[in-house]
Amino acid sequence: MAAVREIEPIVLDLNRLEQMAESGYYNPYTMFDWPDSIEPDKPWMSENLTTLAGTPMWDELTREQQIALTRWEAVNFFSLNIHGIRELMSEVVMRIHEKTYAHVSEFLHHFIGEENEHMWFFAQFCLRYGGKLYPAQPTLKVASADHLSPVAREMIVFARILIFEEIVDYYNSYMATDQTLPPIAREINRVHHQDESRHVAFGRMIFQNLLGQVMKRDPDEVPLIAEYLENYLQYSIGTLYNPAAYRDAGIPDALALRRRALEHPARIEAHDKILKRTRSFLSKVGAGREVIRR
Ligand SMILES: [Fe+2]
Ligand SMILES: [Fe+2]
Repeated sequence: MAAVREIEPIVLDLNRLEQMAESGYYNPYTMFDWPDSIEPDKPWMSENLTTLAGTPMWDELTREQQIALTRWEAVNFFSLNIHGIRELMSEVVMRIHEKTYAHVSEFLHHFIGEENEHMWFFAQFCLRYGGKLYPAQPTLKVASADHLSPVAREMIVFARILIFEEIVDYYNSYMATDQTLPPIAREINRVHHQDESRHVAFGRMIFQNLLGQVMKRDPDEVPLIAEYLENYLQYSIGTLYNPAAYRDAGIPDALALRRRALEHPARIEAHDKILKRTRSFLSKVGAGREVIRR
């Protein structure tokens, strides 16, 4: 954590978020009603959110394959959450008692506690109904941030958390009210969305603080950061397209299908929709893709 000491202490006004975390505190271990099984004709993920939605590849599937795809993509989505949370949470744990983070450490305690609970209920869903988690996919090499200064690398840690949480939240907020889903799937998405709205608010604040520090020290680094973040956005979208989920849904040629789906115009439009909120935030604070030097 030597690099952390080169960073100015992070001071943010988190009173409101901390109060919300306290008053909204719940017991995840008792609050859900886990049915023994889910009705066989119900999707586990909204059909509109599957990686084939809007393409002819979806229409070519049998109804049985379509339902199976919603199931295995739900297991993939929750697995991504579990692995993503674990990696990012371990970064936060390492920092919680560093001087730089002393002023935000109260909120970080809430963050870690809540993420631990999220891992638990996502894994419950996957194991109870899918019988497994998908293994973690290779992460975008952190090494690709090696050329950046310590403060920029520090910023990247929190930027990854923020980007990941914002993408997940797009899915959660949609599924929280999707009446075609079984109640347990809706509930998990709803509860997660509630906690994540605080995490996203915090994430944006800490990101802006660290970006401000980068801009003060070396504004020339900003285009490099913007490039890293744009790559991370693309990488994150790619992880939603898991060939193992296609295989489990009984769809042949999983790898070729993944390539075709990722490039399909309907999917590119869908990706833009998923990333819209994050991209406009990055642009607003001066780290959007338009500042990348080509
Ligand atoms: Fe979470
Ligand atoms: Fe979170």
